[in-house]
Amino acid sequence: MSKLSDETKKKLRSRTKLIYAGRQPHEQFGFVNTPIYRGSTVLAATVAELSSSAGAGLQFTGSPYRRDGQPPRYIYGTKGNPTVEALQTAWTDLSGAAGTVLTPSGLAAITVAFLAVVKAGDHILVTDSVYRPTRVMCEGVLKRLGVETTYYDPALGADIKSLMRPNTSVIFAESPGSQTFEIQDIPALAEVAHAHGACLMLDNTWATPLFFPPHERGVDIAIEAGTKYLGGHSDLLLGLTSANEKYWKRLRDTFDAFGICAGSEDVFLALRGLRTMELRLKEAEKQGLAMAQWFKARAEVAQVLHPALPECPGHALWKRDFTGSSGLFSVVLNPASEGAIAAMLDGLELFGMGYSWGGFESLVIPFDAKSYRSATVWKPVGPALRFQIGFEDVLDLQDDLARGFERLRSAS
Ligand SMILES: Cc1ncc(COP(=O)(O)O)c(C=O)c1O
Repeated sequence: MSKLSDETKKKLRSRTKLIYAGRQPHEQFGFVNTPIYRGSTVLAATVAELSSSAGAGLQFTGSPYRRDGQPPRYIYGTKGNPTVEALQTAWTDLSGAAGTVLTPSGLAAITVAFLAVVKAGDHILVTDSVYRPTRVMCEGVLKRLGVETTYYDPALGADIKSLMRPNTSVIFAESPGSQTFEIQDIPALAEVAHAHGACLMLDNTWATPLFFPPHERGVDIAIEAGTKYLGGHSDLLLGLTSANEKYWKRLRDTFDAFGICAGSEDVFLALRGLRTMELRLKEAEKQGLAMAQWFKARAEVAQVLHPALPECPGHALWKRDFTGSSGLFSVVLNPASEGAIAAMLDGLELFGMGYSWGGFESLVIPFDAKSYRSATVWKPVGPALRFQIGFEDVLDLQDDLARGFERLRSAS
């Protein structure tokens, strides 16, 4: 089998790309996968080689980490090894980025993105629908470092320009919001951000680059919690932060300064997940839609918040900009007491209750966005539940939920 030519590589469709991205069997004694490299120390053969890798003259010319014009070279464990480099290269290709860094969690991927761009005295705009720990970071660490946050309505689009200030350095979007599922107009946000010299960041975990190519749509720095769909098996923690040409050097320098590198075992598992990510995402989409339609027909349900359903806020934008939907969505129930919700959820046999998603198994959590929203009002008619739909038979999931709804009714 011959090596892929650059010409062929450029033309590959995403499914084929996932099979080849970051793999170099001819450099691994012919073995199909890059093994787990563990290690801190990397030995140099000569004084000249040691001093050439000591820092001076290092240039980040994209992913993988290279010295200008040289083949990949390893210096120290925090800066990368062949396992890490394989995933960085694959993600960079898949995302259409200039480079990617890997962090020990999705939250760390968000941290490194912010710290690569903001400085004391800056103002940033963050969507009101953002993942809660991102908000905690803005209100804690970033505030302490002298960065002021304003939250914006995720429906704003180009009107966000009214919130821009001369010192606004970042617009941070999450589309859809991972509890309330508003889709944002990313190209419009990109236009405003760039006209003001600001950086557009996007938490793209729900769609992944397969359903939303972030950099092609104008995003400068994209974040993926690899813990979710990339891993796909609820057995690893990982973050990926990719950047375009403009922001890549700053991102890589900041990552190197912190030394928050991902563990090789988790990276290896993520590489394994990568090969089947499109198959799993497409199945998650099918399963999620089947369940969303089932919820729509239930009398206990007031609203289904799923971007692929026309009634979901931002559906038209989803249709315009996305090529698919994943298996995470929310449902607003008709009014019910806390006790009735507990009776429904406590007795479920096929849905775990846990704060994650993207694995092979189904999950549910109740949530209330009212307590932390500040730019918009979250006023559902009843309690809200977020569902992660796994790969079980949907008929079994529906049977389990139907029994749950019976418990809800009897406890009401
Ligand atoms: C939208 C979103 N972004 C980022 C993260 C953080 O990922 P991790 O759990 O790997 O820190 C999560 C985790 O739930 C998430 O839902």
